[in-house]
Amino acid sequence: LKLIEDCSHAHGAEYKGRKVGTFGDVGCFSCGVVKNLGAFGDAGFCTTDDPEVASRIDLLRVHGQKVKNQHLLYGFNSRLDELQAVVLRIRLRTLEEENERRREIARRYTEAFSALDGLLPPPEFPDRKSVYHRYVVRTPRRSELMEFLRAQGIGVGIQYPQPLHLQDAWQKEGFGRYHLPVSERVCSEVLSLPIYPELREEEVSYVIEKVTGFFRDR
Ligand SMILES: Cc1ncc(COP(=O)(O)O)c(C=O)c1O
Repeated sequence: LKLIEDCSHAHGAEYKGRKVGTFGDVGCFSCGVVKNLGAFGDAGFCTTDDPEVASRIDLLRVHGQKVKNQHLLYGFNSRLDELQAVVLRIRLRTLEEENERRREIARRYTEAFSALDGLLPPPEFPDRKSVYHRYVVRTPRRSELMEFLRAQGIGVGIQYPQPLHLQDAWQKEGFGRYHLPVSERVCSEVLSLPIYPELREEEVSYVIEKVTGFFRDR
């Protein structure tokens, strides 16, 4: 059994004191612009401690080419542009600090939302350190809350509105015949609130005031 970790929402996150991306055979990190460690365009990287896997990834990312014009595998173009690499190396220096700021914002949100009826904040576990790429709450009143917050000038999003088994891309394989009630329900209830290191304290307070106001007054 091979384990491939998708760490794209979790740069710097930990489980039992160990960073994600170090458990599996391979860890995959997207560094798209919005990610905790984001480049100025598309970028990403993989982690592995298996030299064979590492050299295969090396080949795959550049059309299976070992040396110029010698293709050993059918690969693809997934080179990390050097300019993006420079951006990422610089941004890496402040990742821990930025993650800590995200955790602080999440702490304030969770403290304020824990007693609300009808809204479920993301759980925190003592042996896990989330880096809150998203701060995702759940509520059966998602559409109403989303509309209300947007009208107050608060940017919210849905990550993600449709579960994988219902995506068109998987219908040929017949995944649509499965009924996955938990995934389907979660997709209909999740809402992402603003969270990023530059979010100011008064902006966090504003979000808290509007969200708590919604559940208290309506
Ligand atoms: C969880 C997760 N996995 C994988 C990806 C794909 O990353 P990329 O578009 O950089 O290949 C993303 C991108 O948003 C993601 O959020």
